Amino acid sequence: MINLAVFVSGRGSNLRALFNEFYSKENAPQIKFVVSNKPDCPALAFACEKGIQTLVLSKKSNNQKVTYEELAVILHNNDVRLIVLAGFLKKIPEEFIDKFKGKIINIHPALLPKYGGKGMYGMNVHKAVFESGEKYSGATVHFVDNIYDHGEIILQEKILVENLDSPEEISEAVLRIEHKILPQAVFAVVNQMSEKVGNNE
Ligand code: GRF
Repeated sequence: MINLAVFVSGRGSNLRALFNEFYSKENAPQIKFVVSNKPDCPALAFACEKGIQTLVLSKKSNNQKVTYEELAVILHNNDVRLIVLAGFLKKIPEEFIDKFKGKIINIHPALLPKYGGKGMYGMNVHKAVFESGEKYSGATVHFVDNIYDHGEIILQEKILVENLDSPEEISEAVLRIEHKILPQAVFAVVNQMSEKVGNNE
């Protein structure tokens, strides 16, 4: 069983999708920590409700909050092997990304490399897709490197959006795809990790 940390900033529907997919399944990855930059977000409340350990990030630590440096130590000490950004809307410091190279993945609500990069998050993405009159949109899960929405793509699925009437409708349709491909992508990465371990034994 591989330990995960899920980073969130908002509503937490992707966190729920992961939880529902993995909870009490044999050999499924385990969500060991839910980490947020927003102490009051619904995603953290959901984690607490389910008895998952939560951590809140801050520039300065106190007895309720941790810095990225402290977080890195906690994750290492608890053998967290994969970090999943599931609607985490804050840029992660380069040093932290370097420490977890190849171990951080992100869900993006568009077909990367289109509609990615700085400022392209949440409804901004769906507005841009709508205004461009795109035939398709979709979701992408990719590895995280030090450039926004740039790392290697793990999984992508597209849907027809040309008949949808607003960015909000696109957002709803894409979210359904996110909930489907994020758990699939986590499984794929975790399986690859287990194979590597197996091959080295
Ligand atoms: C998702 O659309 C995700 O792709 C984006 O932010 C949204 C988060 O939704 N980065 P939720 O918090 O998982 O419900």
